[in-house]
Amino acid sequence: MAALETPLIAPSVLSADFSRMAEEVAAVEHAGADWLHLDVMDGHFVPNLSMGPQLIKALRPKSKLPFDVHLMIAPVDPYIEAFAKAGADHIHLHVEAGPHTHRSLQHVRDHGVKPGIAICPATPPEAVGEVLDLVDMILVMTVNPGFGGQKFLTSQLRKIETLRRMADATGRDIRIGVDGGITPQTAPLAVAAGADMLVAGTAVYGQDDYAAAIKNLRTGTHNPA
Ligand code: DX5
Ligand code: ZN
Repeated sequence: MAALETPLIAPSVLSADFSRMAEEVAAVEHAGADWLHLDVMDGHFVPNLSMGPQLIKALRPKSKLPFDVHLMIAPVDPYIEAFAKAGADHIHLHVEAGPHTHRSLQHVRDHGVKPGIAICPATPPEAVGEVLDLVDMILVMTVNPGFGGQKFLTSQLRKIETLRRMADATGRDIRIGVDGGITPQTAPLAVAAGADMLVAGTAVYGQDDYAAAIKNLRTGTHNPA
């Protein structure tokens, strides 16, 4: 299915005020967010540390939003159960995180969680071709993962287009999310290439008015000013 409708917006709490996390989560829910994006980093797969299942579990009763958990960790298998139990609705794991992505995605599904496959800028789209039958989402990184506030890599737009074609060819409804450097200026580019979900850290939590920020990301898709 081509992405013709308004994209889902998933604010990333990586850019939120960690000392007021529950309030920050409630604020984006109130401001019209569709999903909540939670970035998990291990200081090994990516050169940064962020949060673990304990924080996600603590936030779970504070929000009705689907929890979209992005695992930037390797290995991933030993931790899938913990994130599922913590309340993840979706788990994205990286195709680059280990040799047995196929099995890891099955584990995610076995835990009743929707699996997504995340792909780094240096990885060609074909790398996920053999697991598309196992996923509900593809998460295309438009920055090198590890930090918020980086510049959108326009070089990834062609990959989004290719992945949209590959996803549509499966005949299954696979969402394509884009993560990194999303702003009201870059959002329309990602959506035109085939994205239907946008992760945004700085472009939501870095703004004063979260509702306006979310609206600008959505409508930016129609008014690329
Ligand atoms: C980066 C994370 C992103 C990050 C995006 O490794 O996966 O989700 O929070 O931040 P912005 O939107 O500021 O680029
Ligand atoms: Zn992310």
